[in-house]
Amino acid sequence: MDSLSPYYHLFFTALAFLVSGLIFFFTRNSAAKKLNLPPGPPGPPVVGNLFQVARSGKPFFQYVRELIPIYGPILTLKMGTRTMIIISSADLAKEALIEKGQVFASRPRENPTRTIFSCDKFTVNAALYGPVWRSLRRNMVQNMLSSARLREFRAAREVAMDKLVDRLKSEAAANGGLVWVLRNARFAVFCILLAMCFGVEMDEQMIEKVDQMMKSVLMVLDPRLDDYLPILSPLFSKQWKRVQQVRNQQIETLVPLIERRRSAVQNPGSDKSAASFSYLDTLFDLKIEGRKSSPSNAEIVTLCSEFLNGGTDTTATAIEWAAARMIENPEIQARLHDEIRTAVGDKRVDEKDVEKLPYLNAVVKELLRRHPPTYFSLTHAVTEPAKLAGYDIPTGANVEFFLPGISDDPKLWTDPEKFDPDRFFLGREDADITGVREVKMIPFGIGRRICPGLNMATVHVNLILARMVQEFEWSGYPDSGKVDLTEKLEFTVVMKNSLRAKIKPRA
Ligand code: HEM
Repeated sequence: MDSLSPYYHLFFTALAFLVSGLIFFFTRNSAAKKLNLPPGPPGPPVVGNLFQVARSGKPFFQYVRELIPIYGPILTLKMGTRTMIIISSADLAKEALIEKGQVFASRPRENPTRTIFSCDKFTVNAALYGPVWRSLRRNMVQNMLSSARLREFRAAREVAMDKLVDRLKSEAAANGGLVWVLRNARFAVFCILLAMCFGVEMDEQMIEKVDQMMKSVLMVLDPRLDDYLPILSPLFSKQWKRVQQVRNQQIETLVPLIERRRSAVQNPGSDKSAASFSYLDTLFDLKIEGRKSSPSNAEIVTLCSEFLNGGTDTTATAIEWAAARMIENPEIQARLHDEIRTAVGDKRVDEKDVEKLPYLNAVVKELLRRHPPTYFSLTHAVTEPAKLAGYDIPTGANVEFFLPGISDDPKLWTDPEKFDPDRFFLGREDADITGVREVKMIPFGIGRRICPGLNMATVHVNLILARMVQEFEWSGYPDSGKVDLTEKLEFTVVMKNSLRAKIKPRA
């Protein structure tokens, strides 16, 4: 928008207000008026709270956090043409996602950018609650993420862990012992997911290329003003061109990998580097309920991207916060190291050891409580008009769950602000993160749409953290012990000042 002349800008804004005003005038007596929506900050007609949020200068999660004490655990924000209902208590999350789980299990309509990248909702995360979602989710869970399948990909994880250690060593050697944490963790997880997804060997250059492309996709998916006020879309024609460019780039990057794998599957033995199984193998002939054809190449590109995106930044974010907390509190690091040395000895720690490391498991659980990688679950929508806490939830509304509202709730946790793995290790407190027994922390969501990658993600975080501690001693930079824990929204909630740590290989 910066490059547009102020007059052009002014003209379209005035036009937007005029047309929106007319729409408001002619529709204000419609059904919407009779709805009993949850309370929320007042805003002018049509734009609602949109500009208040945009002008606040605060990250969206911070804006919401400050509204909760005023409006309570269920509140409404009118974001232009979208009604956003934000739920932030365990009781209401349970009522919506467990007790009324089927009704709250859908997704809202997409904005035009997301429609392109999701191939019109042909992904597990974006599909409406129905047959397409069931087919795609069943395939991902049964064929990729079941415990048996997960074990089959053990070799991919070992290769990635060794690569991570090598990268950290060489980066530290070239920079006086300093390493970037998030970037390296991201690379390690990405390597695992790439191997699982494509089943073909890739050199570092190719991995970087795919990674860069995925980052561009995430950037163009960032919400824009015209997603909330579609009437402003003529102002965003440059951004729209960029969307199409990035989608083409995504297809051009991934289709050759898809074709390589297709040929390896059709001609067994032709590609010696091909893995025995990959996500792609499950997609080539996938049967979708209610559809005759199997997925097209463009749809396969979209499904693979979902697999890579869903698990990369989320997992890497958890690792960055883990390193920050260890540096801030050297006792946690010392206890982790002692536990690993005692249970594992001199051999390399691997995923089978993870079960024997209760303190590590407690640290990871506390990480997911105190720093859920995403502060909002993915947006839900109701399949039919519903009620929650006595309020109306209309079918068109975006229903959001603010996760820290639950995991930081002083009614559910003692000293919720404190990062304290002992609350779990000593059994003073506990929580079932699947939400089956109780709802106290839901970093992966709960109910029908719960993250299908939960088990794999937990293995990844435990394993990466264990290996990082076994191989290196971690300290802060420039000042050991002092870490700036300010948060920043970047798809996930990462550290505002990306963590750079000093590492020393252990003897
Ligand atoms: C620490 C890592 C992870 C976290 C914190 C996380 C968190 C979440 C959350 C909060 C949701 C939304 C649940 C809802 O809509 O209520 C979700 C959904 C999803 N996640 Fe994850 N996730 C992680 C890792 C992964 C991994 C490794 C994968 C797979 C490779 C994955 C794939 C998905 C998919 C496909 C969905 C959509 C499910 C559906 O709509 O049915 N995630 N995740």
